[in-house]
Amino acid sequence: MSVKPTKPKSGEPPTTGHSWDGIQEYDNPMPRWWLWTFYACIIWAVGYSLLYPAWPLVKAATPGLLGASTRQDVEQEIQAFAEANAAIRQKLVETDLTAIAADPDLRQYATNAGAAVFRTNCQQCHGSGAAGVQGQGYPNLLDDDWLWGGDIESIHTTITHGIRNTTDPDARYSEMPRFGADELLDATQIGQVVEHVLALSGQDHDAALAAEGATVFADNCAACHGEDGAGSRDVGAPNLTDAIWLYGGDRDKLTETVTYARFGVMPNWNARLSEADIRAAAVYVHGLGGGE
Ligand code: HEC
Ligand code: HEC
Repeated sequence: MSVKPTKPKSGEPPTTGHSWDGIQEYDNPMPRWWLWTFYACIIWAVGYSLLYPAWPLVKAATPGLLGASTRQDVEQEIQAFAEANAAIRQKLVETDLTAIAADPDLRQYATNAGAAVFRTNCQQCHGSGAAGVQGQGYPNLLDDDWLWGGDIESIHTTITHGIRNTTDPDARYSEMPRFGADELLDATQIGQVVEHVLALSGQDHDAALAAEGATVFADNCAACHGEDGAGSRDVGAPNLTDAIWLYGGDRDKLTETVTYARFGVMPNWNARLSEADIRAAAVYVHGLGGGE
């Protein structure tokens, strides 16, 4: 409801003439500071949308007069980073693998770069701490139990060509026979040899069966795992005398392994990583504690 503006009493500002249930509103001007801030914001907004990407169009936003682009900034940063590291990466590729550790700067760079490579490419299988995944065939890279060798050159070869993949003819390769599935041994013999492996690894076992199993082992397993069961790096056959198991060391798991065998596969990284990155990963893994 609108009423006639009442005449202001002396010293009071005029009212707007609106009245709600008899309550009237003073007609004060906007405070100066507020108005000027408001105008300044408008000017700033116009300037900003002219200079920088601002208004969304169908495919992209208006580019702005300054040509600013955060994507370009990132590309430039990456390029600057690559240029800054070009010399040390070149050195990493040219230095003898065994000599890298002796050069503190090079080792420092390789270890950091290798840790980054590991986080992106390796930890999904080997675990974020490189401790592997128990029982699933992903080896722990922290210990000094090596399938294929723990010196820097062996590690480098393993990473470069991978293991039992079909994409690199130089991949490390070996195949444990499927003793049960292919009927090379019968269930009794498998039971015996499993007791022998339990004995080898210092676990509870049936001594009589294990004694029989020793013969089965000598005839069928020693060629790869060694007479004493300590394994062989030539064929990547694991040590069966320690408590470290790729696939599990209890009676059930051992029976499963001997019956169906295992076939751990690792990709070859020469197809995906630069030589500098592979070397960095090798230095990183070698430096984790188990390196020889
Ligand atoms: C898809 C899973 C997978 C990924 C990804 C992977 N690995 Fe492996 N890696 C394996 C498996 C499985 C083995 C064991 C194979 C075997 O049984 O011999 C292995 C073995 C190794 C070994 C040999 C260990 C030994 O005892 O001799 C090294 C070293 C290694 N990996 C390093 C790496 C590095 C470095 C990367 C990343 C660049 C990587 N792996 C990525 C699955 C993987
Ligand atoms: C031709 C070589 C070869 C022969 C013969 C062989 N193995 Fe193996 N064995 C391997 C290889 C290689 C692996 C590792 C497979 C992998 O990593 O995927 C392996 C793995 C195992 C494992 C798993 C160890 C773990 O850490 O989980 C057990 C147990 C085992 N072998 C027992 C035997 C027994 C028992 C026999 C004899 C009946 C035998 N092997 C004969 C090559 C052989």
